[in-house]
Amino acid sequence: MSKQDLLQTRLKALRAEIDEHNYRYYVLDQPQVPDAEYDRLMRELQAIEKDHPEWVSADSPSQRVGAKPDIGFAEVLHQIPMLSLDNAMNEEEFLAFDKRLTERLASAEHSESIGEYICEPKLDGLAVSLRYENGLLVQAATRGDGSKGEDITLNIRTIKSIPLKLRAQTEALPQLLEVRGEVFMPLSVFEKLNQEAKQNEQKAFANPRNAAAGSLRQLDPAITAKRELAFYAYSVGQVSDEFKLASSQYQRLQQLKSFGIPVTNEIAIAKDKQAVLKYYQQIQQKRAQLAFEIDGVVTKVNSIAQQEQLGFVSRAPRWAIAIKFPAQEEMTQLLGVDFQVGRTGALTPVARLAPVFVGGVTVSNATLHNMDEVERLGVMIGDTVIIRRAGDVIPQLVAAIESKRPSDAKLITAPDECPVCQSSVEKAAGEAVLRCTGGLICSAQRTQAIKHFASRKAMDIDGLGDKLVDTFSELKMIEHISDLYQLEAGQIAKLDRMGEKSAQNLIAAIEASKDTSLAKFIYALGIREVGEVTAKNLANHFIELDSLMKASAEELESVEDVGPIVAKHLQLFFANPHNQQEISALLQAGIHWPSVEKKSASELPLKGKTFVITGTLSTMSRSEAKAKLESLGAKVAGSVSKNTDALIAGEKAGSKLKKAQDLGVAVHGEDYLEQLN
Ligand code: IVH
Repeated sequence: MSKQDLLQTRLKALRAEIDEHNYRYYVLDQPQVPDAEYDRLMRELQAIEKDHPEWVSADSPSQRVGAKPDIGFAEVLHQIPMLSLDNAMNEEEFLAFDKRLTERLASAEHSESIGEYICEPKLDGLAVSLRYENGLLVQAATRGDGSKGEDITLNIRTIKSIPLKLRAQTEALPQLLEVRGEVFMPLSVFEKLNQEAKQNEQKAFANPRNAAAGSLRQLDPAITAKRELAFYAYSVGQVSDEFKLASSQYQRLQQLKSFGIPVTNEIAIAKDKQAVLKYYQQIQQKRAQLAFEIDGVVTKVNSIAQQEQLGFVSRAPRWAIAIKFPAQEEMTQLLGVDFQVGRTGALTPVARLAPVFVGGVTVSNATLHNMDEVERLGVMIGDTVIIRRAGDVIPQLVAAIESKRPSDAKLITAPDECPVCQSSVEKAAGEAVLRCTGGLICSAQRTQAIKHFASRKAMDIDGLGDKLVDTFSELKMIEHISDLYQLEAGQIAKLDRMGEKSAQNLIAAIEASKDTSLAKFIYALGIREVGEVTAKNLANHFIELDSLMKASAEELESVEDVGPIVAKHLQLFFANPHNQQEISALLQAGIHWPSVEKKSASELPLKGKTFVITGTLSTMSRSEAKAKLESLGAKVAGSVSKNTDALIAGEKAGSKLKKAQDLGVAVHGEDYLEQLN
């Protein structure tokens, strides 16, 4: 064989191998090689194609990003219209749909009942049509108005999960196959994109759907490629006559899958209406864990024969319905902005809203984070705004609708004094946050400090919630943290909605909190930038509170996680006479922790070992697990290599677990951490 022939053989093999990896990754969800190996193959392919441009073919996996088209998007006519779906806004409306279908089928010539349903997630993206001729992707179009869309082939080619060439089967590929489905932006990509937008002081996208739409309508495919969109198919459009499509929706989706087209794994057959509702409930539970946004469930009659019998009304099929989740986004009016003072004096702008029902609750406040965010959103008082509340997260103001701005809209301005204590407000260079300079003179800061002190991860005072702390502060029963330990049951029992019993319980909980650990106590003090993990590291390093209080900046910085800024906050905190008094008062009140012998380096059981943590841990956070391992002398690395001694694998461990197994690295469950001391 000549050198040229060898190279061409290699080229073919590389293309086939890359296509195969894509299929395993995007369709089967079972990647076989690490990303680095995939990249190596791709680079080898690109190198050959660079030397031999005459060998480049449009279906080569390297040819995803092409040049900009000269004109805008051309029009595409849909031979079979792209329909929409009727919506059911709740379970009752779905049951009414089921009843309509049952009645319709019963009155048919050969009376029959509804067979199975297929349930699919309602993907929140954009409908597209992909046209494959003889196995090659030749055209992609948006839905448009259903009969006419736009030609977005060049942008669609950049979506890595969409095959440029269908997988060859034992059965021949159809001469023509039109695949329909949803292009969407995975949540991880959306978050990354918005993070970048924030850093570059650009407007963020309100939601993944808008981000996907904006990315797909780019005239430059190179930009679309960077947005890392994804695709799942949900139906078949035109097909050439010689090809035999399966007789149910479920089987058709499997056919598509076998051609290498991605279909979500979240689909399920439901034998009756009850099973559909069960699926709806289950997927709603699962929603927060999914890698993509969904806004409901699409239920379709599974049998194609029955679908044909039921037909269409205007632009929607009779045999399918979208059962929507309660909206997570709504519009309302921004009535004003208040500034709330936090524990460290940070002033947070909070939007006061005309009450709106969103994500299952009525919302009248939403956080605006800081003034940089207010500026970035370009929002003004009086604006119509979009509010989002997903799951249990605090409501966010995600965008202002400028076209609806009233003429008397007002700018949002930062106050120059603290709304609570009237001390001046400062903005440190390089920080987005405004701060009240009042320190513990400011009653708002004191109250927040007490809430933090009592919280679960700090002193864990059961029954002392935020509302009760507010009451204690308002009545001046507690002004300083240490006053907590002077409270008496008699005083507490007199408060509204308290009684003898709950007062006794609270006093007992306060008493119990005295028995703590040094790490929890350091964290409870609420020193700026000192979170739970840093507090643990400090406790492990200094062992004695006294040594920590007297430590030099240099010594502080020798502790894991502590840099010059944290060291400065620690020193400022411990140098403050008020804080010193508070600490003595707290110790005087009886707060104590077991004294620990400082372990010498030779006693550290995991000294010299390198660990990697992966998957979701259920009994502690990743950072806690890391701190624990490090306190015993181990190093914690981000990726598995032959130098790794052990992997701690939580739930849903993925590629790192696989790699550890391949390399023969020891793998432990999270219970391993619990038995370490
Ligand atoms: S089937 C004839 N299945 O929802 C049926 N649509 O509201 C046509 N969508 O335009 C659509 N997930 O963009 C179908 N599993 C799914 C879907 C889905 C999301 C979108 C699609 C459609 C819109 C209709």
